[in-house]
Amino acid sequence: MKRHNGWYGLLIALFATLAAPAWAGSRERLSLDEGWRFLQGDVPLPQIKGHGASYANAQTGQADGPRNTDFDDSQWRHVKLPHDWAVEGPFDAEQNRGQGYRPRGIGWYRRYFQLPAADIGRHVELQFDAIATHSTVWVNGIVVNRNWSGYNGRFIDITPYLRYGEEVNTIAVRVDAEVMEGWWYEGAGMYRHAWLVKRDPVHIASDGIHANPVFKNKRWTLPVAVEVESSAEASRQGVVDVTLLDPSGAEVAKGRAPVQVSPLGKASARMELAVRNPRLWSVDQPQLYRVRAVLRDGAKELDSTEVHTGFRTIRFDAARGFFLNDQPMKLQGVAIHQDHAGVGVAVPDSVWEFRLRQLKSMGVNAIRFAHNAPAAEVLDLCDRLGLMVMDENRVFNPSPDYLPQLQWLVRRYRNRPSVILWSLFNEEQLQGSRVGYEIARRMVSAVKALDPTRPITAAMHHGLFNEKNASQLLDVAGINYQVWEYDHFHKEFPNKPVMSSEDTSALMSRGEYKTDWDKHLIASYDDDAVGWGKTQRESWKLINERPFLAGGFIWTGLDYRGEPTPHNWPSVSSFFGIMDLCAFPKNAFYIRQALWLKDRTVVKVMPHWNWPGREGQDVMVRVATNAPRVRVLLNGKVVGEKDADRYEMASFQVPYAPGKLEAVALRDGKEIGRDGVETSGAPARLVLTPDRMALAGNGQDAVPVTVSAVDAQGRPVPTANLLAHFEIEGAGAIIGVGNGDANSHESEKAPERKLYNGLAQVIVQSNRGGQGTLKLRAKAEGLQSAEVVLALQAGVIPAVAEAQPVVKLAPWRISPAQAERPDPNLMLADNDMNSWGWGEPPLKQAPEAQRWRTYRATFALRADRNDGRAHLVFREIAGRAEVWLDGVKLGEKTSPEPGPMTVPVAKGAPWRTLTVLVESQPGQSSGVIGPVLVEPGAP
Ligand code: GAL
Repeated sequence: MKRHNGWYGLLIALFATLAAPAWAGSRERLSLDEGWRFLQGDVPLPQIKGHGASYANAQTGQADGPRNTDFDDSQWRHVKLPHDWAVEGPFDAEQNRGQGYRPRGIGWYRRYFQLPAADIGRHVELQFDAIATHSTVWVNGIVVNRNWSGYNGRFIDITPYLRYGEEVNTIAVRVDAEVMEGWWYEGAGMYRHAWLVKRDPVHIASDGIHANPVFKNKRWTLPVAVEVESSAEASRQGVVDVTLLDPSGAEVAKGRAPVQVSPLGKASARMELAVRNPRLWSVDQPQLYRVRAVLRDGAKELDSTEVHTGFRTIRFDAARGFFLNDQPMKLQGVAIHQDHAGVGVAVPDSVWEFRLRQLKSMGVNAIRFAHNAPAAEVLDLCDRLGLMVMDENRVFNPSPDYLPQLQWLVRRYRNRPSVILWSLFNEEQLQGSRVGYEIARRMVSAVKALDPTRPITAAMHHGLFNEKNASQLLDVAGINYQVWEYDHFHKEFPNKPVMSSEDTSALMSRGEYKTDWDKHLIASYDDDAVGWGKTQRESWKLINERPFLAGGFIWTGLDYRGEPTPHNWPSVSSFFGIMDLCAFPKNAFYIRQALWLKDRTVVKVMPHWNWPGREGQDVMVRVATNAPRVRVLLNGKVVGEKDADRYEMASFQVPYAPGKLEAVALRDGKEIGRDGVETSGAPARLVLTPDRMALAGNGQDAVPVTVSAVDAQGRPVPTANLLAHFEIEGAGAIIGVGNGDANSHESEKAPERKLYNGLAQVIVQSNRGGQGTLKLRAKAEGLQSAEVVLALQAGVIPAVAEAQPVVKLAPWRISPAQAERPDPNLMLADNDMNSWGWGEPPLKQAPEAQRWRTYRATFALRADRNDGRAHLVFREIAGRAEVWLDGVKLGEKTSPEPGPMTVPVAKGAPWRTLTVLVESQPGQSSGVIGPVLVEPGAP
């Protein structure tokens, strides 16, 4: 790429900026999701041996290899975030079981961007929402952040290190995913969003608004604290105006507070808004209020931003369980991990929405994000959909490297109505000891300092009765699995609220009806659970019959990769899910609906009715229902009728004959609901059913599409396991495929997938700027193919444009002036850091008596410039000059007037030494004044 803008444009723009900053008052939050270059694997760094290399290595900004700007990444792949490289990899029996038998390893990401000169002076923050697992970040060769968890985000002030105008900034991220934090699939890489936020030097801090409503003495108030931080050079004063908007957008309260912030300091503006009769947030009516904060300096608006919050009361009662807005409510919770079919942990926000909607439709009212902090967008969805959240911290460690992770979690999510519990940990070996108590004590204190309103819990599986144990510090005790301790605990500690923080761990393979240990298949009748767990029906009975228990969290709402308990290889993902990895319901889904839903009749008959060869033999039929009685019909004839147990429901033995099996839900002899399954013929046609018919053309929106097979009469074929191929046309891509089979080793990135018991899933995503339509086609041998057309709607996510790398030589060494023409090949001793000076263009010497100086730079030539076609561009040299590269003279500038110069660069070894001899003219300035660039291609 060529750039012809004058270098001085920068200075002119800078002066213009000082006069009237174009950015005054406006913050920009720009996506950094697109435009990354990625390398899977590590890059060996050159061994540092001699003095020169050691000296350079110690300098800020001189990190070498892929950490720095001039590194050659021309062969790296282009990826967009969210990105999980582990899910692209093969399955391998030698890899870790918990991580789904997939290699993780090390990876590197690099991103180039430019900033207009008008941004000089603005505060610029780099935000990563999470990177799995340990990561280090460099900006322009300067290390700016190290992080020790794959689940927390960070805000990195990169203002000091930035370059503007035609210069290019480089972000480099090294990700170490050899490290594990869990025993489940954790993915690898930059699997959440990345952002660049530009603000006034005096601005509202990231996550700096604390606005969490309080109900006291029958009155609602909204205490608001707005944290202001400053990178300005002088102390500044301002005011913060806060407006509260109700769910319809009407202003319902206002407040104002002054703030004074010292240079590079922080300060808080505090106020309290009285709010009369707010509309309450609940699981059925998740009413959200917006809190808008504007920071002003006199009449000038410096910054503004907005958060949402909600008004609701929560109470855990030791005798009566949980109350939301004073209404008793059992927590009908599920625990979930964060991966999905086809995409690993790099789950698009819209696919998260799909997952949470599916859970909500099952009757779930609470989610435990196990065992780590979720993404902000996921909690936005919980707030919006009316799902309560047990928000869990990962690392049980209050030391300085880890406590900030917990503090980040609480600061980030403490305004959210959905969050009802902070969870410190899950099943820690130390929890029942003095050490565990002391660790927890510090963590509790850190949480209470940031949010005194929400109860703290933890998921414990031992030690609850020990003399010193973590539960003594908890507001709500959480018991994992040990159902026999429910009553014991309540008896011992009648004043301590308690809930099941984890239970069930029942097992099912979607669409299977016979448990086959050798084939790693588990029947879908809800008769199988792990030894420490219970079936769906048993575990809810245990909770529901105990009024003191606040409710529970099922392990798990959705399948996840890794932990294929009770099996090992070749099973690669879990069997615990109430839904599979695609969020397709297993029968446990309907069982939970029957246990949980009260506002409508649930009736679901299982199994499917395709049993050729079993004619006349008994088939076990189970009806999941919340109705008091069920009748079963086969081909219109009654084959059974009985009362349904509230928990166990109703089971029958029905001699098989092909046709239609129906279950009729009865109350007082009257039909209140009906479900049926029908024997199908062979698959004849594929069907595509997208979750939505349109998606935003913003490069992020994604839609899961269900692929199924039907027979010639249009009846679903529940036993179809055929291979389907997919094609996409239009501005979008297939980003992953899956089918929910825990034993499948098929690629999740291939444009094909076998149906598993009748279903598969394709996830399609728009391209940035995508318009028109996206056409997805599915084909299978011998079947009629299917096609679906999705509309691409306008939608732009403001983003930082990707820049191309610019190779600018720096640093330079500059010899003292001398009378005679120097030897261009004279080498400085490797340990001589002082007889020549150091610098970067503009290297301009005032008129001087001695006429000659040597300017020298060493650099590594990127592969895309080491092809014999690249050239060195000197934007401006003042004086006569000779240019030498590795002892070979490349060119001469004969005119003493200031001017540019271009010389070709031959192909060769990457490391080069450039020497420029400059001869000044009497009474005139001289030197290498403009930047020196290596540009690809012919000049
Ligand atoms: C629990 C643990 C979960 C999961 C589950 C499987 O002990 O907290 O992460 O491993 O067992 O039953």
